[in-house]
Amino acid sequence: MLTKEEWTAKGYVDEPIPEGIDLKAEIRRMAREKNAVIMAHYYVSGEIQDLADFVGDSLALAQQAAKTDAKIIVMCGVHFMGETNKILCPDKTVLVPDLNATCSLAESCPADEFKKFVEAHPDHTVISYVNTTAATKAVTDVVVTSGNARQIVESLPKDEKIIFGPDQNLGNYINSITGRQMILWNGACHVHEKFSLEKILELKRQHPEAKILVHPECKGPVVRVADKVGSTAALLKFAINDDATEFIVATESGILHEMQKRCPEKTFIPAPPNDSTCACNECNYMKLITLQKLYNCLKYEWPQVEVEPEIAEKAIRPINRMLEISARLGL
Ligand code: 13P
Ligand code: SF4
Repeated sequence: MLTKEEWTAKGYVDEPIPEGIDLKAEIRRMAREKNAVIMAHYYVSGEIQDLADFVGDSLALAQQAAKTDAKIIVMCGVHFMGETNKILCPDKTVLVPDLNATCSLAESCPADEFKKFVEAHPDHTVISYVNTTAATKAVTDVVVTSGNARQIVESLPKDEKIIFGPDQNLGNYINSITGRQMILWNGACHVHEKFSLEKILELKRQHPEAKILVHPECKGPVVRVADKVGSTAALLKFAINDDATEFIVATESGILHEMQKRCPEKTFIPAPPNDSTCACNECNYMKLITLQKLYNCLKYEWPQVEVEPEIAEKAIRPINRMLEISARLGL
């Protein structure tokens, strides 16, 4: 067995699963016994989504964390999601099965540089996408997700000066649909930036009846060919309710699991990235969360997500502001 120091260096508990156990049943048993809630984002593997108590987009995961009465939250997703949960629930144990599960978008916005950007625009309201570190949220006025960004921006006075970070593609999209002129931080997600317009149009030629579903973290030309632009939950809802039977999906391919489960009679075609022969586009960080790591993290209650109290004290305000506006708008 590895030592705690070796686990710490790896960022997860690297212990083999005991032979002969029913891994999924054991995970469920431990969760029950320890009063732990297992939450999963739509981008983690299908088998983990199926095991979870709750699966959702970033907004729903934050809303769920805010109201859970479980003692332990196991966040099967990336680190900023665990941080948000910890900020909302400082007295609970928050676990993320692998601390290496970061986010290229959150990393594209280091807090110290973002702080300088904020200071250079003193009369501006600061909006940050939830895909940011706690330290970046700490210099923010209101947090948004892709599920409520439009409505939160529109809830501010028309002449309010706004800076928006870190996702430039989402910011450009919100500017285009609201007519605002938010000043944008130049960040991006390495997964969503890679979708190829040419390959999507080629798929559309092969499947002319298919509707194109696009996450707003994609680049403008991809967003502009979409039949529906939205958060993972919004794309799922559209797929369930729309009459079309075929969909080309331009977001991380994990969402296809729930789409296919909810609509077994429909066909979902993952849009490919531009730089490989791979048929779909995966977030390497989300895919670090495995059943083995989930099992070990529940067993040892490690790795835990911690947020420095002085950062958490500042970061809770823009997160709560987001939750309050969302509740008021029924989102
Ligand atoms: P959602 O808020 O749509 O779930 O997206 C989260 C995310 O990480 C997108 O890359
Ligand atoms: Fe971050 Fe992109 Fe992965 Fe979403 S898909 S968690 S934005 S790296």
